[in-house]
Amino acid sequence: MCGIVAALAREGNIGPEVISGLKTLEYRGYDSAGIAVMTDDGILVRRKMGKIRALESELAANGLPPSSQALAHTRWATHGVPADRNAHPHTDDNGKVVVVHNGIIENYAELRAELQQRGHQFRSDTDTEVLVNLIASNLRQSGSLHAAVRQALSQVHGAYAIVAMSECEPGRFVVARMDSPLVVGLGADGTYAASDMPALLHLTRDFLILENGETAVLELDHCQVYDPAGQPVDRVVTRCDWTPEQAEKGGYPHFMLKEIEEQPDVLARTAFDRFHDSEGDVDFEATFALDDAELRYFSRLRFMAMGTSLHSAMLGQMMLAELARLPGETLNASEFLYSPELKETDALTVIISQSGETADSLRAMREVKRRGGRVLGVCNVQGSTLAREADHLILTHCGPEVGVASTKAFFGQITALYLLAIRIGRARRVLAPSAGRQLLAALRGLRPKLDILFGAELKAAVEQAADYLASVNSCLFLGRGFNFPIALEGALKLKEISYIHAEGYPAGEMKHGPIALIDAQFPVIALATPGRTYEKMISNLQEVRAREGKVIALCAQGDERIAREADFLLQVPEVSELLQPLVNVIPLQQLSYQVALKLGRDIDQPRNLAKSVTVE
Ligand code: F6R
Repeated sequence: MCGIVAALAREGNIGPEVISGLKTLEYRGYDSAGIAVMTDDGILVRRKMGKIRALESELAANGLPPSSQALAHTRWATHGVPADRNAHPHTDDNGKVVVVHNGIIENYAELRAELQQRGHQFRSDTDTEVLVNLIASNLRQSGSLHAAVRQALSQVHGAYAIVAMSECEPGRFVVARMDSPLVVGLGADGTYAASDMPALLHLTRDFLILENGETAVLELDHCQVYDPAGQPVDRVVTRCDWTPEQAEKGGYPHFMLKEIEEQPDVLARTAFDRFHDSEGDVDFEATFALDDAELRYFSRLRFMAMGTSLHSAMLGQMMLAELARLPGETLNASEFLYSPELKETDALTVIISQSGETADSLRAMREVKRRGGRVLGVCNVQGSTLAREADHLILTHCGPEVGVASTKAFFGQITALYLLAIRIGRARRVLAPSAGRQLLAALRGLRPKLDILFGAELKAAVEQAADYLASVNSCLFLGRGFNFPIALEGALKLKEISYIHAEGYPAGEMKHGPIALIDAQFPVIALATPGRTYEKMISNLQEVRAREGKVIALCAQGDERIAREADFLLQVPEVSELLQPLVNVIPLQQLSYQVALKLGRDIDQPRNLAKSVTVE
C-alpha cells in the first residue's frame, strides 16, 4: 500500500536518493506519487497521478530546486479517487506544514467539518489534508512541531504512519506510527525514515524501529524516540542483514521471475542452518523461545494468515497433524475477531505473514493475546510488527520479496513449517531421532531436484500450457490432501497476475457443483503427483475428460497413466508427499507468470493489489 521515504542529508541534493528509495516501494502498489522539499523560500511540493515516472517527467518539466531535506510518497487511494489533487504530500492551507501519511483516519469527516467551520480550506478529498491542517493549527498555538503532531494524533482515530516537516523548523522531521509500519534509518551522511527497510538500503543498514503509538524527532546525526506518553525512550539500533542487491532485479525482466528462480536458495537459507543432524531435530534461533516442555504442553494449534500465507497455514496444519500428531485449525485472520472466545491456554496460535504488517493478521495476533493466548509468528521481515509483537518468532530468511504476487515467501513459509512440525514432533516424542533424521535428509535431498524445475524441458511444457491458458476466461485448479492448498495457491496466482478467473477446489468437491462448468472450452489444472490421493485424482481426471474438458496435469516425471488423461503435462520430480507441495507450486507460479506475460499484464504490480495490505 502507500509508501513513504524521507531524508535529511548533511549536504547536497537528496531528492534523487529519495525518489530512488521510493522506487523500491513501488511493489507495494500505488496510483500516484509526490515529493516535497525544504528550500530557502519555503516548502515546495510536486505530485502526480500515475507511476513514479510521471512524477519524474513533471520534475523534469518544472524543475525541483536542490535540497538536503525531502520527503516523498506513493499513494494507494483510500479517501478520494486517484488524482493529482489527492496525491501526497499534502500541505496545510498556508503551505507551511507538509505531511505524508499511510493509513486511514477514521474520524476525518468530523474533523474536516470542524476545521472548515474554523475557516480552513480544503483542496483534496483526503483524510491526510485534514491531519496536516490539524497539525498546522496546533503548531500556531504550541510553537513546536513535535507537540503539534502529538496533539493532532490524540484527536484522530485510525491507522497511520506519518512524516511531517514545517517551514518553522527546517532540518527536522517529526514522525509517528500507529498500526502502519515506519522505520528510521541512521547513516553517516543523514537521517532517514521510510515505510520499510529496503527503501533505505542504498543509504544505510542501521535502523530504529518505531512501536505503535510512538513518535520521533529526526535531525541530522540524531533521532529521539518518544513513547505514547511523550517520554523519551532509548531504542536499540537494528542492523538489517539484507543487501541493496537483494532488493534489485539483477537482470531479470520482473521481480516475480527473479523470486521464483531464487527458491532453491530460499530452501538453503530457511532450512539448512537449522538442522541438528545427530538428533534428527531442528534448532531455531533464540527468538523461538519454546522449550520441549512447553511444546508438549499445548494440545492444539491454530494457524492464521491471509492470502498466499493462508495457503501455507493450511499446509502447516496438515504437517503438524502428520508429524507431531497435534490437532489444529486454520482460520482466515480477518474472521478470527468475530469468533467466540474459547479457552486459549492450551493452544499455540501460529500467525504467518511475509511482510509482518498485514493489518488483518496483526489484529488477529493482538486479539489472541488479549484472550490470553500465545502467538508464534512466522515472518520474512525482521523488525516488522509481527516479528516484534509475537511471543515467539521464526524468521523465514527469504530475502526481500518485491513482486506483489508472493512466491518465494510462500516457499520459505512451507519450509519453515516443515521444520516446525519436526521440532514439535520430536519434542512431543512422536518422532524418533531416526525419523527426524530421515525427514531432514529428505529436505536436504530436495535441493538438487529443484534444479529440474528450471530446466529447458519443463520451461517448454509450461509455455505450451500457458499459450492455451491465456486464451480462456476461467479455469479450475484441483488437488487433494497436501496438494489442495497448492491448488488454491495456483488459482490465486493466476487470477492475481493474469486477471483470468480461477478457483481452487479439493478435487472430491468437483462433482458437487463445479463439474457443471466443464465443457470443451473449460480447462482443469490438476495436481496429480503420487501419494495417498493419486488413484482418486485419476478418477477426477477421467470425469473431466468424459465431459470434453481440457486437462493440464501436473504429475511425476514419466507417469504414463496421467499422460493418457491429459492434454498438457507439467512433469516434476517425485519427492516425499510432505515435500511435494514445495516442488508442485513452482510450475504453477511459472505458468501464471507465462500467462500474464503473454497477456501483457503488469506482472510485478497487478491492478488494484498492494504488496502489504496495511488496512483491514
Ligand atoms: C498473494 C499475496 C497476498 C498475500 C497476503 C498476505 O500473492 O501476496 O495474498 O499473501 O496479502 O500478506 P502477508 O504474507 O505479507 O501477510
